[in-house]
Amino acid sequence: MSDIVIETRRLTKRFRSRYAVDSLDLRVERGTVFGFLGPNGAGKTTAIHMLLGSVRPTAGLGWVLGRPLGETAVRRRIGFLPEKTTFYPFLTAQEFLQAMGELSGLRRVELSARIPETLQLVGLADRARDRIGSFSRGMQQRLGLAQAILHAPELIILDEPTSALDPLGRRTVRDLILALKREGCTLFLNSHLLSEVEMTCDEVAILKKGRVAVSGRLQDLLQVQQTVEIEVEEMTEAAMSALRRLSLKVKMYGMPPRRLTVLLRSAEDTPEIARALVENGARLRALIPQRETLEELFVRVIESE
Ligand SMILES: Nc1ncnc2c1ncn2[C@@H]1O[C@H](COP(=O)(O)OP(=O)(O)O)[C@@H](O)[C@H]1O
Ligand SMILES: [Mg+2]
Repeated sequence: MSDIVIETRRLTKRFRSRYAVDSLDLRVERGTVFGFLGPNGAGKTTAIHMLLGSVRPTAGLGWVLGRPLGETAVRRRIGFLPEKTTFYPFLTAQEFLQAMGELSGLRRVELSARIPETLQLVGLADRARDRIGSFSRGMQQRLGLAQAILHAPELIILDEPTSALDPLGRRTVRDLILALKREGCTLFLNSHLLSEVEMTCDEVAILKKGRVAVSGRLQDLLQVQQTVEIEVEEMTEAAMSALRRLSLKVKMYGMPPRRLTVLLRSAEDTPEIARALVENGARLRALIPQRETLEELFVRVIESE
């Protein structure tokens, strides 16, 4: 069995003269969480619909779960939460999942166990018999997620899964994503909540005007910065001048300084700094190398020409 769950080669979608997705090359490995990021209008939803076979590419190729794009049989092995969910307001959560489950080929006996389990996972166990019309937007989003994972798909595609959720809801979804990953699922998701993405994703691609601006493993993309935060209980003159000698710039907070931000010549100098502080009588409490956040990477990529 192939270890690549999604692969595209120069996948392109043009609407009239505008390229919504332009020569997209993606490779998503089985069992990973992949963050598909980009500003509004970058082409994420269009690309997702090409993966699902509901939008036909203008050019390029792609495979999902080893099958060429557009093949309908593969759709049952994918779970999908659309960006905009539409529900029948007069159905209960239970009835809706029953109908969706039958559509994806699950038998009634399977569903009678699977539905309560899934509602439990998304935090809606006590709302099974309530009509969807009475649900808040956040609850509808949870139900959409339940629908996406109900049939235990191998690949789960989530287009903005947490946009309507409160902080607790986001945590539920985050835990769920990590639990699904542990079970061997592959997740492909798009979210603007970059701190959440940072906590769940192994790899990301940042899309800009239909093209991939950067992609790779998160830990390779987020640069270790040349800055360290230092906290001391006590600082000495000698430690201070050693610090100045070893670094490019020292910023101090408070009198006498308790916290310092130090710009190093190189990230490699960190142990040297720690030793110099201690040997010169400073009582060191913390020394924390700073790493770029995903949000900083995103802004850096999107704002660059
Ligand atoms: N059906 C359509 N007809 C014409 N243009 C479209 C259509 N769907 C999307 N677009 C355009 O394609 C671009 C990408 O849209 P979309 O894929 O929704 O971006 P994202 O999901 O990243 O916000 C936008 O400029 C959008 O206006
Ligand atoms: Mg979108």
